[in-house]
Amino acid sequence: MPNKTLGIYTSGGDAPGMNASIRAVVRLALHYNWKVVGIEQAYKGMLEKLFKPLDLSSVAQIIQRGGTILQSSRYGEFLKKEVRAVAYKNLQEQGISSLICIGGDGSFKGLSALQEEFNINAVGIPATIDNDIYGTDLSLGFDTASNVVLSAIDRIRDTANSHGRVFLVEVMGHSFGFLALHTALSAGAEDVFLPSDNMQKKLPKVIENIQKRKARGKKGHILIVAEHLGQEAFSYQIAKQFKTLAPDLDIKVSILGHMQRGGSPTCLDRSLGTRFGIRSVELIEAMWKVQKPKQLAVVLQQGVISELPLDKVVLAEKFLEEDSLGNYIRILAG
Ligand code: F6P
Repeated sequence: MPNKTLGIYTSGGDAPGMNASIRAVVRLALHYNWKVVGIEQAYKGMLEKLFKPLDLSSVAQIIQRGGTILQSSRYGEFLKKEVRAVAYKNLQEQGISSLICIGGDGSFKGLSALQEEFNINAVGIPATIDNDIYGTDLSLGFDTASNVVLSAIDRIRDTANSHGRVFLVEVMGHSFGFLALHTALSAGAEDVFLPSDNMQKKLPKVIENIQKRKARGKKGHILIVAEHLGQEAFSYQIAKQFKTLAPDLDIKVSILGHMQRGGSPTCLDRSLGTRFGIRSVELIEAMWKVQKPKQLAVVLQQGVISELPLDKVVLAEKFLEEDSLGNYIRILAG
């Protein structure tokens, strides 16, 4: 039988709740007599041999901490088969037969390729503030990031009302609009700009709605802008167009940036991280018992934790309910 050694790593953008998962994985795996090895900086660390044995006390006092104690990286080199072969050789040297990856879609692709090529036991835990992973209602970090965004918007709303201004508040989310749509809905924003929107068509309508609301006495206006990948500070481009089309409006831009990824995880992210961690170890233990390596992702569906084939999760795209919700956001803004 192969070694009962489990490697764990956090990859891609860090997300609050990652540490809760690490804690659960390490402690439950030790309970099942696994040796647990932390791979610092994810795929980069596999290449650079950044291996660190983890024991019960190495994960003490981390459930409440944001970021990741294992550090993270984005490592494009891992797309190359020859690089993965070196990584696997390094994993073998450590006796690692099983891997748990906590990360997003890109990180899952790396794990899926490793599993296919070297037939290891592999489980992915969805973690990204973008919440764009197929098959799971929630990814780790989304709830905390949404709450960080909300508290920023609430503050911006105060100053927007005091000056009668229109604020473009830009949020992260990669090229998807999950964080933007969710926070626009929860903050009672006046409108939301999503990556799929046609700006030329949308802008005149947004301005018309603002003018109508102003006419009936509404003072501040909050418009959430989903970041547009490849177009840094996209909100400034929108602001420019606003100034041309509606010079009477007082427009301000607020780009929230990386503060959205930090901070102590919410109760939801801590409990989800822990539940994902528990299920992952149960799956790895089951694979090891029957000696049948697989690649799986743990997911949350309608409140229940289950698993899906990782290769399917990696290939499929998550659906954003933008058409219906975007319209309701405008109606509810009055
Ligand atoms: O995937 C999480 C995320 O925060 C995205 O929302 C954002 O586009 C990206 O990471 C930023 O990446 P980085 O921190 O590497 O600049």
